[in-house]
Amino acid sequence: MTNDERVTLLNGILAMPYGDTKVPEGVPFGAGYIPGIARLNIPALTETDASLGVSYIGGMRGDGATALPSGLAMGSTWSPQLMREGGALIAGEAHAKGFNVLLAGGINLVRDPRGGRAFEYLGEDPLHSGLLGGAAVAGIQSRNVISKIKHFVLTPTEIGRQFHNGIINEGALRMSDLLAFEIAIEEGQPGSIMCAYNKVNGAQACGNDPLLNGVLKKDWGYKGWVMSDWGSVRATDFALKGLDQQSGSQLDAAVHFGKPLLDAANQDKRYRDKVSDMSRRILRSIYAVGIDQNPPRKAPIDFTAGAAVAQEIAEKGMVLLKNQNNVLPLAASAKKILVIGGYADAGVLSGAGSSQVQGEGGPVVSLPTMAEGPFAPIMAQNYHRSSPLQAIRARAPQAEVTFRDGRYPAEAAIAAKNADLVIVFATQWMSEGLDVPDLSLPTGQDEVVAAVAKANPNTVVVLQTGGPVAMPWQGDVAAILEAWYPGARGGEGIAAVLFGDVNPSGRLPVTFPASVAQLPRPGLPGAETIEPNFQGYGKPGQTLDIDYNIEGADVGYRWFARKGAKPLYPFGYGLSYTSFERSGLAVTGGKTPSASFTLRNTGARDGADIGQVYLVETPLGKTRRLVGFSRIDLKPGEARRVEVAIDPRVLADWTSKGWKIAGGTYRFALGASADDLIEEAQVQLTERTWNYAK
Ligand code: BGC
Repeated sequence: MTNDERVTLLNGILAMPYGDTKVPEGVPFGAGYIPGIARLNIPALTETDASLGVSYIGGMRGDGATALPSGLAMGSTWSPQLMREGGALIAGEAHAKGFNVLLAGGINLVRDPRGGRAFEYLGEDPLHSGLLGGAAVAGIQSRNVISKIKHFVLTPTEIGRQFHNGIINEGALRMSDLLAFEIAIEEGQPGSIMCAYNKVNGAQACGNDPLLNGVLKKDWGYKGWVMSDWGSVRATDFALKGLDQQSGSQLDAAVHFGKPLLDAANQDKRYRDKVSDMSRRILRSIYAVGIDQNPPRKAPIDFTAGAAVAQEIAEKGMVLLKNQNNVLPLAASAKKILVIGGYADAGVLSGAGSSQVQGEGGPVVSLPTMAEGPFAPIMAQNYHRSSPLQAIRARAPQAEVTFRDGRYPAEAAIAAKNADLVIVFATQWMSEGLDVPDLSLPTGQDEVVAAVAKANPNTVVVLQTGGPVAMPWQGDVAAILEAWYPGARGGEGIAAVLFGDVNPSGRLPVTFPASVAQLPRPGLPGAETIEPNFQGYGKPGQTLDIDYNIEGADVGYRWFARKGAKPLYPFGYGLSYTSFERSGLAVTGGKTPSASFTLRNTGARDGADIGQVYLVETPLGKTRRLVGFSRIDLKPGEARRVEVAIDPRVLADWTSKGWKIAGGTYRFALGASADDLIEEAQVQLTERTWNYAK
């Protein structure tokens, strides 16, 4: 290959009308395009977002796709198997729309529940996010579509994302966010990794030599390529620092990885060698994933098959948070059911930004949130065509089911007085590029729920939220179902769970704090100093240091355990219509430690439990770390013995010599959640230190 040819592979455009750039004929509108090289039969790369399906890009392509539920809904399934199925499904659709790269694999840890992209990510624990995210990648790549994982690394909040500088010490990062990526890479072998917008310890994530050349490529031996996020490349020397490809180059000040890189390669051996390695990495992934063997072919989408997978994930990801006096599942005998709010008459909510997917015909309700600007179309508050109200009516033909939009608390309360049962649909819209300022439900919905609960004790709240909310009315309602953003068939999924056709089995992959005061940073980073704008650029030279050493590796439930703080609902929590007994925890040590336990369905319905094992104490002191989990289906009365492998890295601490397991006693507990630990076991481990081959 000539240097010219190599450099052709190293930069790409945003593949939609933007500025003066023309998208070449025949290239599908999507996130990105990198031309191929005909002389060498190297295929072009056609890129689309993202983890929840083939993104809608404001309808620019004129087509729809299957919308999977949000990342936190998927995370709530705790099921690598479902992640793999979801990944294969969306890759099939990407392929049928002409794409061979899915910008999927969002696995940033939810360090802050207000982060605008919390809904895209899988949770707050590195083992859980790594295993689930890796499974999704494997599913995508099984269909000859390259997946990435993103955003490398440490990017928990959105407002001003281009000038955040995350400060964290190496050990804390290795044991948290980096561990999630490390596990996902091992599990899924993603062809590419997308670096983040922000800085980490002073260096831009996409020009971060210690992270890209050091941790990723040298320590972990990662063989794929690092692509930039769209508009995150500042200079040509990012190539020397470990970035392999500039994406969406019209969003940067210059095509740094175009002519300037070619000139550098022609003059300077360091650049020549780098350009050779950079292009080799891209080719390696093209051939490893086989996109040359099975090129994308335009074909119709099987929306029925897609809807079935989306609905299964939605149903298995919904989390039953409260169920006083077993008000759920709903009795088929209720005569007067009142449904309130959340556009439940029309559809179900989706999160916004680059990841947003819409089905055929586009959204049923679309509320613009920005009047102008190139990103306005992807920032709308959109609802999928799957009405919970209609699904409830279909399921309860004997009842009179009425609807109120929930704009006024007083009106909702009067209507609630006359109903046997009230179902309030409460929503919290989230978007890439924006954070939420607090954990309230927006536009006065907390007041609506409080007024309705006062008027009718049989109030069931269905939440469609991007992430955790505070629920000041939580003690006054009969039941709460967290449905997240439930995707293409969310309305049907919600009705199936409410009426008991499906037994809820989701478990929270994030802690629901009682208030923002419990968070490591009660004030949202930069909220007062930054004007919201989608791209998150600041003024030239602006930097915002964010201290992540406050919690360090103790993200989410680990922070709550360290502080002895009681959350509203803990990580790992979720109720069922049946009951489970968890017992018999046993742990073995040695080089390949494992845990085993017994799960028994002690109730009268089929159900699934998620066995969770936590490390609670090491020779260095008390801790709380998820070390293994397994989702198990059980018939009434059925018991199963389950064994899970324990990754030694979750037992170890990162030290100056690498991973270290201190010699001594390790105590483990079996949990119904991170806060409800039932049975303990302990094991002696001998001291062990290991590092990556240098
Ligand atoms: C997002 C990425 C996305 C890219 C391309 C960026 O704004 O941060 O996650 O893949 O755009 O659309």
